[in-house]
Amino acid sequence: MAYLLALDQGTSSSRSIIFDETGAIVATAQQEFRQIFPQPGWVEHDPMDLWNSQLQTCRQVLAQAGIKAADLAGLGITNQRETTVVWDRASGKPVHNAIVWQDRRTEAICAGLRERGLTDAIQAKTGLVLDPYFSGTKLHWILDSVPGLRERARRGELAFGTVDAWLIWNLTAGRLHVTDVSNASRTMLWNIHTGSWDEELLEWLDVPRSLLPEVHPSAHLYGRTDAGHLGAAVMIGGIAGDQQSALFGQACFQPGMAKNTYGTGCFMLLHTGDQCAQSRNGLISTAACQVGERKQYALEGSVFIGGAVVQWLRDGLKAIKNSTDVEELAASAPDSGGVVFVPSFTGLGAPYWNPSAKGAIVGLSRGSTVAHIARAALESIAFQSTALLTAMVRDAVSPITELRVDGGASANNLLLQFQADLLGIPVIRPQVTETTALGAASLAGLATGVYRDLPELSAHWRMERTFLPTMSRDEAQTKIQTWERAIKQVSIV
Ligand code: G3P
Repeated sequence: MAYLLALDQGTSSSRSIIFDETGAIVATAQQEFRQIFPQPGWVEHDPMDLWNSQLQTCRQVLAQAGIKAADLAGLGITNQRETTVVWDRASGKPVHNAIVWQDRRTEAICAGLRERGLTDAIQAKTGLVLDPYFSGTKLHWILDSVPGLRERARRGELAFGTVDAWLIWNLTAGRLHVTDVSNASRTMLWNIHTGSWDEELLEWLDVPRSLLPEVHPSAHLYGRTDAGHLGAAVMIGGIAGDQQSALFGQACFQPGMAKNTYGTGCFMLLHTGDQCAQSRNGLISTAACQVGERKQYALEGSVFIGGAVVQWLRDGLKAIKNSTDVEELAASAPDSGGVVFVPSFTGLGAPYWNPSAKGAIVGLSRGSTVAHIARAALESIAFQSTALLTAMVRDAVSPITELRVDGGASANNLLLQFQADLLGIPVIRPQVTETTALGAASLAGLATGVYRDLPELSAHWRMERTFLPTMSRDEAQTKIQTWERAIKQVSIV
């Protein structure tokens, strides 16, 4: 039996999972780390925390599984995307905390680029909307904010990376400065059409080229880890940003195949094959995982408040004690009783893009209860995801016939049934919902020869349950229209 180790470095925790060659989980280890909020709207991580917590979980998971590093066929890395790390090449020390993808401090830099009339050109080259979300303006900010850094960068003394590159630098004791296309495509410095760092983007963002890592396909023999870390040198065979990795772990390899991850937020990705579809409906284009030389693309949309609305029911409204209680409370009402909950606590993301929208609960009557509100809260996750899929259908060339789902809140049957009802297509939950880590392990398995090809991986993917739509399309459309009216209300507050 061959074993593959996946390192899943996420926004709130570092996790390591060992899979066997059938894609079954052998052992899991997880460690949370510190979130740093220096100012409102700023979010940082200490890069050393990311590295130390990740390394510890690797060691823990090997011990738990009773497997030696030498017995691993390879390892794959998947990571929170866009989060920006800069370090000194000689000492290996970070020169600043990592600026996390959620951080909004570079809005003024984005505004400056907009004023220079670069919005369309940046979107055309990168597939991204000009927003602080992506790494480019974060890197610019770090170089500007720490005295002397830009000069040191010009002299080639510094390295930039997303979290994957930072971890690999450490795993290989500074031998490798690399990333993959899926992570590069989130930096706003990478041209997704030519598949290269783009000189004009580097100039607009004032980023010296010497900072940048080498970029390879997602499945690739990157090199071996330093033997000291895990007890033996292990081949790094896969790298992917976490959402693209989940798309891969869901075996969505063909145009028209889509997945939605229900976490704190929701991330929906639609594979578009080797066509880079340009959205006209508020989505972004991104590189999907690449195996071999052929570039692969996806359309992506994200919902800012997904499962987080359940946390608000628990911590803000105190309507439930544990997050898992929401399903029972919501199921105690036959429907939402006309209540619509728009949880736009932090503005509205794709496809609405309204940063100043505030949350609202509308349609309350004397008969409304906390059960109706809980139901409306769950429904809001499905309504927002429906808006993403509707935008994808408008942009896509191929029809979307099913949606594969994963993430913590995909355990909620009520939510998934309502999702299928709204979408009018089957919603499918796989047996392994750790698809992010599975994607990274599968990439490493392909590079190291554990797997022959994509059809072999598709054959391993197993469905646990399919939720078929039962609501009439008329009823679904009426509900969607009511939701869209509520969206308009929050947009004018
Ligand atoms: O783009 C941000 C995304 O990659 C973060 O994912 O799962 O770490 O919250 P997660």
